[in-house]
Amino acid sequence: MFDKVKDILAEIQSANPGTAEEIEQFRIKYLGSKNILKPLMGEIRNIPNEQKKEYGQLVNQTKQTAEKKLADLQAAQSNAAAASEAQNLDLTASGEPIALGSRHPISITMDRIIDIFSRIGFTVAEDREIEDDWHNFSAMNTPEDHPARDMQDTFYLKDSTSMLLRTHTSSVQARVMTHKKPPIRIIAPGRVYRNETISARAHCQFHQVEGLYVDENVSFADLKQTLLYFAQEMYGPNTKIRLRPSYFPFTEPSAEMDVSCFICDAKGCNVCKYTGWVEVLGCGMVDPKVLENCGIDSQKYTGFAFGMGIERQAMLRYRINDIRLLFENDVRFLKQFTSAL
Ligand code: PHE
Repeated sequence: MFDKVKDILAEIQSANPGTAEEIEQFRIKYLGSKNILKPLMGEIRNIPNEQKKEYGQLVNQTKQTAEKKLADLQAAQSNAAAASEAQNLDLTASGEPIALGSRHPISITMDRIIDIFSRIGFTVAEDREIEDDWHNFSAMNTPEDHPARDMQDTFYLKDSTSMLLRTHTSSVQARVMTHKKPPIRIIAPGRVYRNETISARAHCQFHQVEGLYVDENVSFADLKQTLLYFAQEMYGPNTKIRLRPSYFPFTEPSAEMDVSCFICDAKGCNVCKYTGWVEVLGCGMVDPKVLENCGIDSQKYTGFAFGMGIERQAMLRYRINDIRLLFENDVRFLKQFTSAL
């Protein structure tokens, strides 16, 4: 019996199956469910007691040798397969295309505006979107019973009369003015919220950039010059501006700025509704009450402020006719801005 097992062990050790088929035959013969070692293990009952242990170990060792050999053969085979695949690589084949992402038209427009103002010394100020009533309204000269509150329908936080989603980034102006001494020259870009019915022209969330300049002797002429510079950088060197008197609680005097229509060159088109002018922003001299509310001496300092909606600028620039497209993130829409500047 011992010899028989030893013969099989030698056979296993010298076996050299090459093909996948031969390796499978090897597995079936020595390790399959009807392998030739099984009956030999059964023979143990005919072995004299004092040799049983040694016999059992021999059979086990034979089986383990077969297992090890099979594992080695299989590993060698899969290595060979990988190597031959590597040899067949076509190094001239074109690569997998990498899908190019694109910046969102809102980001593109916002960055452009920030860039224009940073060139004349404005720095970016950012703050929270969940604001308290004071920074959003009261500091901005809009106390609770002020009718101008109706101009901006507000989302209040649940069960709160004082915490809200900011309705404009003027709240950032209040935050900066209460913390910093003039001269102050900032722009505040960011997301704002108003409880408006969503349509092609309005959304309950949008973006603004507001600007604030407070120093000694800041005049309306400074405001006009700054806005003319902005308009010509943004819409082209021949752009004209027009200021129409308007009303905001936090500025006095206040104005709305139109630019000459850059789409039809002011000849008249459906964007400017055949007037030659498009409205782009609100502005004015900071109301002295706002300065005082924020702890700035209104006898010594004056300031101007302006604010614009980014969606509107982006829609004008890219001729987008539905504001909702800017929030749906449909890649078919966004893809069109892959190379936009
Ligand atoms: N906060 C105003 C708005 O959201 C815009 C504005 C800012 C107007 C600063 C004038 C001065 O409509």
